[in-house]
Amino acid sequence: MRKEKVVVGIDVGTTKVVTLVGNVIDGTIEIIGMGKSESHGLEKGVVVDIGRTMSSIRKSVEEAENMADVKIDAVYVGIAGKHISSINNSGTVSINRPDRIITDEDVRRVVETAQAIQIPPESEMIHVIPRQYIVDGQDGITDPVGMTGTRLEVDVHIVTGSITAVHNLVRCVETLGIGIKQIVLEPIASSLAVLSSAEKELGVILMDIGGGTTDISVFRGGDIWFSKVIPIAGEHITNDITVGLQTPIEEAELVKKMHGTALVDSVGEEEKIEVASIGGDEKKLVSKKRLAKIIEPRIEELLDLGMQEVEDAGYRDLVPAGLVLTGGCSLLNGLTDFASQRYDIPVRRGKIPQGIHGLRDIVESPIYATSIGLLRYAVETKDFKKPEFYEKKRESIVSKLFSWFNRFFRG
Ligand SMILES: Nc1ncnc2c1ncn2[C@@H]1O[C@H](COP(=O)(O)OP(=O)(O)OP(=O)(O)O)[C@@H](O)[C@H]1O
Ligand SMILES: [Mg+2]
Repeated sequence: MRKEKVVVGIDVGTTKVVTLVGNVIDGTIEIIGMGKSESHGLEKGVVVDIGRTMSSIRKSVEEAENMADVKIDAVYVGIAGKHISSINNSGTVSINRPDRIITDEDVRRVVETAQAIQIPPESEMIHVIPRQYIVDGQDGITDPVGMTGTRLEVDVHIVTGSITAVHNLVRCVETLGIGIKQIVLEPIASSLAVLSSAEKELGVILMDIGGGTTDISVFRGGDIWFSKVIPIAGEHITNDITVGLQTPIEEAELVKKMHGTALVDSVGEEEKIEVASIGGDEKKLVSKKRLAKIIEPRIEELLDLGMQEVEDAGYRDLVPAGLVLTGGCSLLNGLTDFASQRYDIPVRRGKIPQGIHGLRDIVESPIYATSIGLLRYAVETKDFKKPEFYEKKRESIVSKLFSWFNRFFRG
């Protein structure tokens, strides 16, 4: 029998909000709806204005609903921002029953023990992802249910975020009458869209360079080991161009995309471009090299910071598959060459892998990596952090209404 369901992902980025509707048929995702709106109300990946963020989300959701001809009622939403931290931990339980056969309940118990750690105040767990199970010393197990053993261990990757940042995002979506199935860390989502399983197995760094944030993650042995969000990305490059060339921000954005490059040495002195002046109609001639000289140091700073994070976490020498770049900024000319020369590792731009169909010309762009990844997450998730919080909250509203109804009508 064909198994079919609809899943929806919303990527609330700093520059745009994308809603994707996917029809999942036997594990293959067919994109049947897309909505995209300009994002207002976010700074560096974090909601700073609930009203404006809500209206950006509403616009993108309505567009996707119209295209897919469905009513969206529950979604997977991406989250980023420098409030995100991650930590690895492990847990152990013993199996004392006579048959010693490991059950779902044992798995739930062991993951729960692995969650018993101190997390920073004012923060909450977003993900608890089991990386591997160990049964009586045998490691590398992905699903221990049904196995026999006396001692069950688990290694988990825990992602935490600021309670305020998470709740503000949740409010923006729920106030629109849309339920949240899960908040998903954006680097985790993007990784599902652009990394191959071979790369993840071998060891790879993923950088999603967006408008307001650069999301860094490291994968090894098929799973995530490290994640970090740094608050520098494409908008900073645009701002530098605005100041450096004395040009309006819209022009700086245009010039960056059309003529920008991360490699100063790749452009000759004689190449000139026309750039608008601030507050005037006249255009001025600027050398492309000058533009590159503004962009290159910012890219260098951004990538250096990202690589330093990987180094500090101890993974710099454990990523033979190199660096994969995604997010809008990964479209910058010369970026992959710049990075491979500077860090002496293989670098490629992320491509959407097999198993995603529909609207191909649109969704092939790295700008959509996070939203496509959210759909994959919805299909493949093995995360243990269920959205108890959101469910409880909804329940309580329903039960309040119910008791009010009882009091009113039944005295
Ligand atoms: N061809 C291009 N060359 C250079 N930069 C580009 C290009 N196309 C898009 N960008 C830049 O990519 C950035 C937007 O990327 P993206 O859509 O991934 O961000 P976002 O998801 O909205 O933001 P974030 O993930 O940081 O919250 C913008 O700064 C934009 O200028
Ligand atoms: Mg993004």
